[in-house]
Amino acid sequence: MTIERPSRRTIVTALVLLALSAVFNAVFGLFTFGRSDDDTRESTTNIVSLPEANKESDVSVERAIANRRSRRTYDERPLTVAELGQLLWAAQGVTERLTGHRAAPSAGALYPIELYVVVGTGSVTGLEDGVYRYRPKTHELVLGQTGDVRSELRAAALDQDPVETAPVDIVVCSVDERTTQKYGDRGARRYVPMEAGHVGENIYLQAESLRLSTVSIGAFGDQRVADIVGAPEDQRPLYIFPVGARI
Ligand SMILES: Cc1cc2nc3c(=O)[nH]c(=O)nc-3n(C[C@H](O)[C@H](O)[C@H](O)COP(=O)(O)O)c2cc1C
Repeated sequence: MTIERPSRRTIVTALVLLALSAVFNAVFGLFTFGRSDDDTRESTTNIVSLPEANKESDVSVERAIANRRSRRTYDERPLTVAELGQLLWAAQGVTERLTGHRAAPSAGALYPIELYVVVGTGSVTGLEDGVYRYRPKTHELVLGQTGDVRSELRAAALDQDPVETAPVDIVVCSVDERTTQKYGDRGARRYVPMEAGHVGENIYLQAESLRLSTVSIGAFGDQRVADIVGAPEDQRPLYIFPVGARI
């Protein structure tokens, strides 16, 4: 059998197509970031860079699934910035630079989820207490307000202890409009809550892998939680994850 060599024209066409797809991917990636990030709404002071997340672990995904439990009591040891960063990366970190795609799946890659972190006094080594927002694109935290608001958050969450006793609470909010603009009402009723579930399971499994403890909290007053974390009006809180060291 003879195999024909590709003609010069075929090679040039293939190269042009390759270049065009690279350009498209780069543009699409920027487009995705621009659409799904609230970075322009807040000041660029008080930014905390998080260390690059680990992509390897001695704990298999099977072991993490087998051991995962909702854990409602926490050791007093503060978390490290690396542990917090790892949890946020697992929840919403960018795992493909070119497209901006993230650790958890998202309908239409529209990424409606925003994460806030409520940090108690002395709860994370080297981090001031306050409410921070996670920026997936740059893997940073932006300080929105200072002060330990865990007791207010606990009151808003039907007085559930873990919300105040955990060193940090990750509050999962959504900007439904990002998804409804493409999928209509189905986006808000189904896709967005499904995505919060994906994010939540990633937090659970990452906590398990780091031997941290967490529980998903769905019982709270929506408006009160939104006010406490300073979420804009177009966002609704869906979940609270208190996280702390394992006892
Ligand atoms: C949507 C949802 C909402 C939940 N809300 C709460 C809550 O408000 N407070 C709480 O202590 N646990 C809450 N949980 C955790 C469940 O109680 C827990 O997952 C269940 O008891 C099973 O235990 P396991 O997670 O250890 O397997 C919630 C779980 C889900 C999935």
